[in-house]
Amino acid sequence: MACGTQKESVRQHTSFNNDWTFHLGDVAEAIRPDYDDSGWRKLNLPHDWAIEGAFSAENPSGAGGGALPGGIGWYRKVFTPGKEIDGKRVFIDFDGVYMNSEVFINGQSLGIRPFGYISFRYDLTPYLKYGEPNVMAVRVDNSDQPNSRWYSGCGIYRNTWLTVTHPVHIDQWGTYLTTPEVSAKQATVAATTIVKNDHSAIEEAEVQTLIYNAEGKKVAQSNSSTVRMAAGDTARVQQQMILDKPHLWDVESPYLYTVRTEIRLDGQLVDTYDTPLGVRSFRFDAERGFILNGREVKIKGVCQHHDLGCLGAAVNTRAIERQLEILREMGCNGIRCSHNPPAPELLDLCDRMGFIVMDETFDMWRKKKTAHDYARYFNEWHERDLTDHILRDRNHPSVFMWSIGNEVLEQWDQADADTLSLEEANLVLNFGHEQHTLAAVSDSRSINELLTQKLANIARGLDPTRPITAGCNEPRASNHLFRANALDIIGYNYHEKYIKDVPRNFPGKPFIFAESTSGLMTRGYYRMPSDSMYIWPERWDKPFTDPSFSCSSYDNCHVPWGSTHEVAWLLTKQNPFVSGLYVWTGFDYLGEPTPYGFPARSSYFGIIDLAGFPKDVYYMYQSEWTEKPVLHLFPHWNWEPGQTLDMWAYYNQADEVELYINGTSQGIRRKGDKELHVSWRVRFEPGTVRIVSRNAGKEVLTKEIHTAGVPAHIRLTADRKEVKADGLDLSFITVEVTDANGNLCPHADNLIQFAVEGSAFIAGVDNGCQTSMESFKAPQRQAFNGKCLVVLQNNGTKGSARLTATSDNLKESITINGNN
Ligand code: GAL
Repeated sequence: MACGTQKESVRQHTSFNNDWTFHLGDVAEAIRPDYDDSGWRKLNLPHDWAIEGAFSAENPSGAGGGALPGGIGWYRKVFTPGKEIDGKRVFIDFDGVYMNSEVFINGQSLGIRPFGYISFRYDLTPYLKYGEPNVMAVRVDNSDQPNSRWYSGCGIYRNTWLTVTHPVHIDQWGTYLTTPEVSAKQATVAATTIVKNDHSAIEEAEVQTLIYNAEGKKVAQSNSSTVRMAAGDTARVQQQMILDKPHLWDVESPYLYTVRTEIRLDGQLVDTYDTPLGVRSFRFDAERGFILNGREVKIKGVCQHHDLGCLGAAVNTRAIERQLEILREMGCNGIRCSHNPPAPELLDLCDRMGFIVMDETFDMWRKKKTAHDYARYFNEWHERDLTDHILRDRNHPSVFMWSIGNEVLEQWDQADADTLSLEEANLVLNFGHEQHTLAAVSDSRSINELLTQKLANIARGLDPTRPITAGCNEPRASNHLFRANALDIIGYNYHEKYIKDVPRNFPGKPFIFAESTSGLMTRGYYRMPSDSMYIWPERWDKPFTDPSFSCSSYDNCHVPWGSTHEVAWLLTKQNPFVSGLYVWTGFDYLGEPTPYGFPARSSYFGIIDLAGFPKDVYYMYQSEWTEKPVLHLFPHWNWEPGQTLDMWAYYNQADEVELYINGTSQGIRRKGDKELHVSWRVRFEPGTVRIVSRNAGKEVLTKEIHTAGVPAHIRLTADRKEVKADGLDLSFITVEVTDANGNLCPHADNLIQFAVEGSAFIAGVDNGCQTSMESFKAPQRQAFNGKCLVVLQNNGTKGSARLTATSDNLKESITINGNN
């Protein structure tokens, strides 16, 4: 903690993750405190039961949902709140439960929450027995499927917390920080605090806000404000502070202050609450794009779903951090949380690492995309879910825009005149004080325009400091979301050809590619000739198949609504008014295996595969998005003698590259203005292919690929050999099958067995293959195009963990240390 010490902190906010029991299946009696769950499995949260299951075409999620099981699951936990907290307020906080959860305490229902991505809290205080066991039971119902276009996971897949406060305390998400004025000289910090009085008597509280810098030194503080609250009331306090010579939050230097709010009763500290603060100024400009702290910054972003590959949806902070590190290494500076509220840990990491986040709430509104999706709950829950999402996330400096929906079907048509009565329509719109009611369903402002306005107004009302956008796939001005005139940024998905019309169609409006590209690739698979385009599937709703169940890793395969990576990035780069792009997607994710159906069960869209291994196009981005010298040559050099093939290279910081096969030059290549790669058509002969990049005749970089012989070794490379002994930390170990000289065997598919001794266990295995039916939890994995991955998780003990990988007569070990 940057400022103060834990002792000073009067509130307790502790993990509630450990020592639950779990049962897959519905057991109505499980709500009863005396229910005997001794036969249930014991586990710690976060937990995703789907990722433990077997792939099957019969699973109701379908290949689109990852072809893994759904169902109903129950979790129970017995806990004993100490007598010393009697008289305090005790809350249970769930960061996310997929989906349809109902929480019970000592047999009492606390409430239901259909939306699987929203965070929520219940007040346990009225139901608790102190100094004796209490029983919490959670029913999770993900049985009505399909309800998602991608893999959702099942269960209490995010963290849970027990929060204990004084009866007079800062409310849930009860602080809001803004920086109305920012200059190099000074910044004004405005703090709003919501204080709640849960005492049975009137209370007078003092509220003070203090700012600490990253070193923990106090750099500003507000005056103390006094508020009087009747029993059960809340009070809103507004304070201002000045920060001299503020250290700005930027992509390269994501500087964070900590703002501490203190509540006192009769001079005694009763609550403290820390909120991160990033001081930055920004705007989206119709001509110049995104401007951060006065300079133009192109958003070089990716869309991400929430799963963590072989770990499924179960949140692990290190696994998210590793994804962000791999993306940052590529030069990526933006994340779109597609298409739902993310895990809080993702935003904490984006704050710390300097990513520009588009934070999105919904993938659908009233009109469904799959049979049982959130559209069922939208009418009843959208106000609450959108409100809670914005309240939860509006203090994250990394969040720069709200997206109120992705490709919602409401953009296309006028209304639901045929399905909705006037009364119903007005109920959905329910504009409250604004009294925007429809006079007739055929009102020229369609219900969909009004709904757009309503959602935008909710977001803007809670956070006027960030612009509102939506990912639209109807690019014309007739789009009902655009017509509503409620979006601050015009956001398109794809439709690259339409962007030249943006300035004319939407004068004065900033623009962003909320989503782009949708290239399709399988790591290590190449379809030739590389200058032929494979536009797969022919149409989104037409079945497609190819016996390879693979997609080409030259940038020559994409969906018909998308483009190559080069096209989308060039358009973004060359048009200053385009604020940036969020490429679909950074990592492959479970589900949506476009263009294929089962047994394909994970996506081909990633720049990085499901296991976290970069595909070749990763280096195109790296050559464009970073300042480091890049030279990447592909594919591998194991082909049939005499075979014609295409060699490609991505490079930067050089004016030419030259390719040599066994010492013979294949010619010099230079990228043209509209090219981001060069290529050679060559004849394969075993040996060595070498590439050199030169600038003004001087060698910059050189790379060699050798024809690999038969598998002779296993190479194990850990991303980190030292991990924390906290029972959570992970080491991601890349397993490569190499020949006797250490060359990767590019076709190796050895089955590798894993054994671990010591302070870790296997949290998951993967190889990035989109059609593998192997279990993500087994102690073995087949190599796919030479590689696989094993994820070791510390088991809570210190000391070393030794992983041994064997395959036939190959054997290799590596040691990881668990430290304090
Ligand atoms: C987009 C959609 C994404 C994903 C993508 C695949 O239209 O917003 O969620 O489905 O297509 O190309």
